Amino acid sequence: MTTQAQTIVLTGANGQLGLTLQKTLAQHSNIQLHALTREQLDIADEAAVNACLDQIKPDVIINAAAYTAVDAAETDDLTARAANATGPKHLARWAQRNNAYLLQISTDFVFSGRNHRPYTPDDQTDPLSIYGRTKLEGELHARYLAPANSLVLRTSWVYSEFGRNFVKTMLRLMTEKDQLNVVADQIGTPSSTWGLARCIDACLARRPVGILHWSDSGVASWYDFAVAIQDEALATGLLEKRIPVRAIPTSEYPTPAKRPPFSVLDKSATMEALELEPLHWRHELGRVIQAIKAGQ
Ligand SMILES: NC(=O)c1ccc[n+]([C@@H]2O[C@H](COP(=O)([O-])OP(=O)(O)OC[C@H]3O[C@@H](n4cnc5c(N)ncnc54)[C@H](OP(=O)(O)O)[C@@H]3O)[C@@H](O)[C@H]2O)c1
Repeated sequence: MTTQAQTIVLTGANGQLGLTLQKTLAQHSNIQLHALTREQLDIADEAAVNACLDQIKPDVIINAAAYTAVDAAETDDLTARAANATGPKHLARWAQRNNAYLLQISTDFVFSGRNHRPYTPDDQTDPLSIYGRTKLEGELHARYLAPANSLVLRTSWVYSEFGRNFVKTMLRLMTEKDQLNVVADQIGTPSSTWGLARCIDACLARRPVGILHWSDSGVASWYDFAVAIQDEALATGLLEKRIPVRAIPTSEYPTPAKRPPFSVLDKSATMEALELEPLHWRHELGRVIQAIKAGQ
């Protein structure tokens, strides 16, 4: 991390990534952090964005705010678009006018998942869902409105001990049910917010622009992820009894939003630009399960 003083505005501060960054960025004495929840700053409100940023005058804006309810977005596209597309547009305009660095977090769901090799940042986007489409619009606003000042950092399958995510849902279902069916034909890479925060630290130091990809290393299906969650949780005593976890195809678990069947992200450009190695998702999962156990 650079020793240069930085004033940072963090939006979506109550989300999984927002709560993680509040902890990691607080460790840097050269950072003056303004962590803003949705109640403190609705990024869809342009007047509020301009008034807030004009007052704080940040060097860096980290946009961790998003509408992440992928299935709900299918019937609530106005709200999804306000947060995922219009919000980044407002932030990008301000960043461009004021020469601030905008870190726009995005998603593997901008891809259709028809690839059979990991997606590079230059690969064709082709989102299958409203969530993916609105996130792509947000990317485009950042790239075209603040081309020299913004980084779109795509990530996948984000989880942490905070908020709502797949790990916490599985842990709950594993205590409530006698058996669990989990989709095995969607392949991606889990990303703990702690690994993502390490990557964001490196971005703050080097300020790359354009598009980069980040996830933990390795690949998994949701089924593999669920099995690993159960194993880790049993090992730490977070779960007491094992239940059968059965692999099913997506066709047996229909959801309102279509999801990419294969959305592994190629991180080689990021690893080179930031000189940073991701940890294996299984290792990161162990740390998050420990944190959930410690917080019980
Ligand atoms: N979660 C995933 O699996 C995943 C995967 C790939 C990429 N990502 C991306 O990673 C980033 C962080 O995701 P996350 O998992 O930390 O999301 P999250 O836990 O859902 O947090 C998002 C936060 O944004 C806030 N928000 C929503 N609309 C807002 C608005 N108009 N103005 C200000 N704040 C608003 C939410 O507030 P409320 O709770 O009050 O709505 C919430 O606190 C997002 O860009 C997301 O698209 C996530």
